[in-house]
Amino acid sequence: MAVTDSRNSLTITDNRTGKKYEVPIDHGCLNTMDLRQIKASDEDFGLLGYDPGFLNTASCKSRITYIDGDKGILRYRGYPIEQLAENSSFLETSYLLIKGELPDKERLAVWSYNIHHHTMTHANIVKFMDGFRYDAHPMGILVGTVGALSTFYRDAKDINDEESRKLQVRRLIGKIPTLAAMSFRHSLGFPYVLPDNELSYAGNFLSMMFKMTELRYQPNPILERALDVLFILHADHEQNCSTNAVRAVGSSGVDPYTAIAAGCAALYGPLHGGANEAVIHMLLKIGSVDKVPEFIKSVKAGEGRLMGFGHRVYKNYDPRAKIIKKIAFEVFEETGRSPLLDIALELERIALEDEYFINRKLYPNVDFYSGLIYQAMGFPMDMFPVLFAIGRIPGWLAQWIEHVKDPEQKIARPRQIYLGEEQREFISIDKRPKNRPDEQVVGAICML
Ligand code: CMC
Repeated sequence: MAVTDSRNSLTITDNRTGKKYEVPIDHGCLNTMDLRQIKASDEDFGLLGYDPGFLNTASCKSRITYIDGDKGILRYRGYPIEQLAENSSFLETSYLLIKGELPDKERLAVWSYNIHHHTMTHANIVKFMDGFRYDAHPMGILVGTVGALSTFYRDAKDINDEESRKLQVRRLIGKIPTLAAMSFRHSLGFPYVLPDNELSYAGNFLSMMFKMTELRYQPNPILERALDVLFILHADHEQNCSTNAVRAVGSSGVDPYTAIAAGCAALYGPLHGGANEAVIHMLLKIGSVDKVPEFIKSVKAGEGRLMGFGHRVYKNYDPRAKIIKKIAFEVFEETGRSPLLDIALELERIALEDEYFINRKLYPNVDFYSGLIYQAMGFPMDMFPVLFAIGRIPGWLAQWIEHVKDPEQKIARPRQIYLGEEQREFISIDKRPKNRPDEQVVGAICML
């Protein structure tokens, strides 16, 4: 890129050659392709950027979500998360994320109608679901079934067609709660519950989860609203691990179901969407308030992490955690207080006063209290990341659409620094030195 304004540029001196280069700065960012011209010799490939984990590399230009991690700010399309959590609904926030503006009354009604009328799944999904073992993790089921949706909707391959994209968006937001509830009921051996489109988005999900023999499930309005707000809080979080997975897989031109299955897969991990489940395991392991100091000591000694604490971007209190803590108390008013809450409050109190956590800027994140709420609502622990995934669907979709429409994007293909062997000649097997044993024969049952 040619430099037009020298104040918005960086001058680099390559000390290997003494040559000087001027590279432009755009939006506070250096385009690392501009480094390629910097070569130690004519044969040199050119300078690369090395950034495992993308600590200081922007992978896209986005207009969806803004985070200021130092100030604890999160905004969707410019609207502060606190205002959306207070005044909006999950479906309205989904519209905002995907379309860029808040809908008027009529548009919201049409949008909600369209999503509610895509909540049913093809009957063959039931056969697919039944194929999973009774103890399959629901998140594993979700990864598989979301990916499988691509085989039902072949039109989804037409990713450059706006009408096709709109249809897949409705289908995905509509069907995710249905798949999630099926994965839960499968593990219990309960019959699946059909969607009730007269209920709200969160209310219908609660119905598909917990309806038993009653003719119509009536969700508790406090829990229904709490769940809707939790979905809003999870709806997008700019370029996190799973969104990056959606964009990277989507960059190959694959259909959105497959790209979003990749997002679900990334979210499954304990450092990402699995952290809320890990928080409850941690609280159960601690067992009582008096054991908290001992646990904090073990974390500081490097014997494990304080789950639900710390964030790559927030170096201040995660604004979502503040809202969630308030919801937790509202939900406990209805359900009764979880004994684990006292352990969590004590952990937070001690950690926020402790040098180790203060120096590393480790504060509670979105997962610290969300698991306690889910547990109080009756969700089993392995459903927690699934709930996160339901909330994150509109964000993934908004990011996927932005990626598909962005003319600057290409197939995601990072470079590497090769540190392996130079070229060497193949050695026939009888001439090779004997290796140390690294494999042993296992029994047939283990091989299953
Ligand atoms: N407990 C104890 N120490 C921690 C923690 C923690 N939860 N998080 C980070 N640290 C320490 C870490 O050991 C390191 O210390 P040192 O400099 O002495 O080596 C320092 O803080 C920096 O950590 P890092 O691993 O380089 O930070 P990161 O930005 O790569 O990791 C994180 C971010 C979220 C993966 C990490 O904080 C973590 O593992 N937290 C626990 C898991 C968790 O709650 N995840 C949910 C994240 S929010 C929801 C989501 O977006 O999925």
